[in-house]
Amino acid sequence: MNTKNGTILFLDNHDRSKHLYTLALEVYLNNTVVEMSSLQDAFDYLDSYAPELIITRANLENKDCGLALSNLIRVKNYKTKVIILGKSDLKLDGNSGFIHLIEDVSVKDLLKNAAELLNITAKEMARLDVGEYFPIDIKLLPEKLVLVSPIYKLNPDGSFEKVLDKESQLHSEVLFMLNYSGQEFIYVKSTDRLKFVNSLTIYITEMIASDRLTLEDSILFGNDSYNLVKSSVQKMSISPIVINATEVNINNMLSISSKIDKLDKYLKIISTNKTSLVFQHCLLTCFISSHIINKMDWGTNDQKVKLAFVCFFSNMFLENDQDVFIRNELTLNNFDYSADRFHNINNHALNAAKFLSKYYSNLPFGVETIIKQHHGNKYGVGFDLHSSSVSPLALIYLIADDWVCRIMNSSATGQNVNKVDFLSLLKSNYKGIMFLDIIKAIEDLEI
Ligand SMILES: [Fe+2]
Repeated sequence: MNTKNGTILFLDNHDRSKHLYTLALEVYLNNTVVEMSSLQDAFDYLDSYAPELIITRANLENKDCGLALSNLIRVKNYKTKVIILGKSDLKLDGNSGFIHLIEDVSVKDLLKNAAELLNITAKEMARLDVGEYFPIDIKLLPEKLVLVSPIYKLNPDGSFEKVLDKESQLHSEVLFMLNYSGQEFIYVKSTDRLKFVNSLTIYITEMIASDRLTLEDSILFGNDSYNLVKSSVQKMSISPIVINATEVNINNMLSISSKIDKLDKYLKIISTNKTSLVFQHCLLTCFISSHIINKMDWGTNDQKVKLAFVCFFSNMFLENDQDVFIRNELTLNNFDYSADRFHNINNHALNAAKFLSKYYSNLPFGVETIIKQHHGNKYGVGFDLHSSSVSPLALIYLIADDWVCRIMNSSATGQNVNKVDFLSLLKSNYKGIMFLDIIKAIEDLEI
């Protein structure tokens, strides 16, 4: 019988590390873990429930969560224990036996402290009965992980089928296939679960420390994640897993953009990677639009995030990757496309905006509109490169998109469209007053 040992409230705003620690706590301590991202949510939860243990980051959003939650436990007279992760100003005294501080967080220390506070012995941990197969959330599986045990998938008839053998390396096609077939979990034999989770933990912890992740691997990881989100979105579905993958990917794109200073360098890295055309386009438009925002007097970080969302989703409803390069009606009309493909290209902006407004509840304000207008048409149908009635951020995307399409098309033929070439095209093709700020920003760019 699989009886849980009790509930742990886990407060952290870094989703990947939270999921990772949650997995370890569930596997080793057999607890139910309730994940939260804000102090207010934790307070609301504690109004009605008294978990056995709270694990919290010391500080989130400039709030001393360790101190606030420890005080609340005292006031409510709960028997809840508390583990605070990271540096805290909390002073422990003789009455603080229910609190443990862990400054340098590792999974091992977290488990050791949690087991001690919950009075779980090593012997009890070893005896946990979790059934013949143990599920692992697919979103935790990184590409390139070398498997220390076979992995299985669950068939609709309830049988388990081996997907990869021990010592195989996970690759994007397998992860894509699993996700595409609607699997949220892979399974390992329960007897292998501790070994498997150990190896996964070590690998993912290294990945999360992004300063140790090469740019190339960040891009490959982003590409796989983008494909997973795209396959889900094209099936008109968006789960919390997909939202999490989107947000991790967007942070990753912005982080890469801030680490690279030269367009040439970025192009070189992308061209040596096995990334899709659409994702390359997405990364480059994010890079250029971020740098344009940096040069705008009115530019803010929030606008960079909004534009990154636009880059990520704007072309997700195109059925053919190659169609990302179609950006005016003349080109579209010149191709002898079927009525369906023509309709798909002509409406991809509107379709993406409609989908997001319906299914993505936490989309940053204004993103849906910018996506609708990303080819200059106010209503998201067709193309209008000289529009004066769309959002200024849509205009920035429009120009970044123009540059990126020229760069990608010319690099395929071994040429290069540098900033000077592009500026002269820009000045002759975009004469409206609303483009003056953007042209000036591009003149000032040092990319
Ligand atoms: Fe588009």
